[in-house]
Amino acid sequence: MKAIVCTKYGETADVVELREIPKPTAGTNEVLIEIHAASLNPVDFKIQQGALKAIRKLTFPFVMGFDVSGEVVAVGAGVRQFKVGDEVFSRVGAAYMGTFAEFVTVDEKFVAMKPKNISHQEAAALPLVALTTWQALVTVAKLQAGQRVLIHAGAGGIGSIAIQIAKELGAYVFTTTSTKNVEMVKALGADEVIDYKTQAFEQVLKDIDVVFETLGGENQVKSFGVLKAGGILVTIVGIPTSAWAREEGLPVYMGWLFDLLNWKNRRLARAQHARFAPVLLQPEGSKLAIIAEMVSSEMIHPVIDKVFPLDQTKAALQYIQTGRATGKIVLAVK
Ligand SMILES: NC(=O)c1ccc[n+]([C@@H]2O[C@H](COP(=O)([O-])OP(=O)(O)OC[C@H]3O[C@@H](n4cnc5c(N)ncnc54)[C@H](OP(=O)(O)O)[C@@H]3O)[C@@H](O)[C@H]2O)c1
Repeated sequence: MKAIVCTKYGETADVVELREIPKPTAGTNEVLIEIHAASLNPVDFKIQQGALKAIRKLTFPFVMGFDVSGEVVAVGAGVRQFKVGDEVFSRVGAAYMGTFAEFVTVDEKFVAMKPKNISHQEAAALPLVALTTWQALVTVAKLQAGQRVLIHAGAGGIGSIAIQIAKELGAYVFTTTSTKNVEMVKALGADEVIDYKTQAFEQVLKDIDVVFETLGGENQVKSFGVLKAGGILVTIVGIPTSAWAREEGLPVYMGWLFDLLNWKNRRLARAQHARFAPVLLQPEGSKLAIIAEMVSSEMIHPVIDKVFPLDQTKAALQYIQTGRATGKIVLAVK
C-alpha cells in the first residue's frame, strides 16, 4: 500500500516521503480501515521535527498521521462493535499512528461510526480537534451554560470546532483571531471577537470563567489575568502533568520535571484565585460517538481549509506549519 513515512527527524517536510509498504493486518481487537481521508494536526509536524522525542520513542521509518475516516474491510476475532462495511472515523491511539496511508489498523476502542450526513473528508477533519476540545471544555473545565469562555486562535483547527461546541454548551464565547478571520469566527458563533492585530485581549477582557489556551508562551501568561476568581485556564500547549507521565509509563523524574516546569503557571493561577489545568488528548471511541451525534444533529460541523491528495502530503505539512490554517487540512486518499 501507499503510505507517507517520516525517514528521520527534520525541521522541514523534506524528511517525509511516499513509499510502498506492506498492508497491515487486523489483530484480535483491531479493525482494518481502508482510508478514504485523513487530516493533519500540528502534532504531525511536531513529531516530524522531533519535538516530542523525549516523551514518544519512535523507530524510523514510521507512517505518520492520527486522524482517519474510512471503511472497515477486516476485523479481528475479538472485535464486537464493528463489522466489515461499516463507515467509521477515529483518532487512532498513539501506538496506531499511521493514517497517512491507504490502510490502517486500530483497536476498536478508538473507533466510532462516521456521521452519515458528512463526507469522509469532513469526518476525517474532526476526531483529534473535537475530542481535545471535549476533554478540555467538558471533562476538565466543566463549562456551563451562561459562563464566559475565551477560546484563543478561534480560526484554527481547534478553535473552529471549540467555538461551536462552547456555543452548544450555552456559553458566551470570546475568541481571538487576526483581522482576516474575524467574519469567519463570527459565522461559527463567536459572540465577541478580539482582533489581535488591533486589540490586546488582556486589556479588553475580564471575569472570564474558562480560558481555553491554544497558543502558549506569553499569550498564556497574559491569559491568567483575564480569569475571574474561581475560574480555570485549561491549556493544550503547555507541559503535561505528572499524572499523565505516570499513565504513559514515563520515568518518575519526568513527572517531577513536568510539575516543576508547571510551578509558575500554578502560581499565576493562584494569584487570580483560579485553577490551571494542562490537558493532553486521550483518544476514545465512546467520546467520539458523542461528537458524531452532535454532527448528525447538525449542532456542529467540521471546518476545512484545504484538501491535498495523499501524494502531496509534504505540501500539506508545509502549509499547516505556517500556523495560518483556517480550520483543518485534509488528505484525500480514496
Ligand atoms: N494537548 C493536546 O492534546 C493537543 C491537542 C490538539 C492540539 N494541540 C495543540 O494546540 C495548538 C493549536 O492547534 P490547532 O490545530 O488549532 O493549530 P492550527 O490550526 O495550526 O492554528 C492555526 C490558527 O492559529 C491562529 N493564530 C496564530 N497566532 C494567533 C494569535 N496570536 N492569536 C490568535 N490566533 C492565532 C491562526 O489565525 P490567524 O491567521 O488569524 O492568526 C490560525 O487560524 C497546537 O500547538 C497543537 O499542537 C494540543
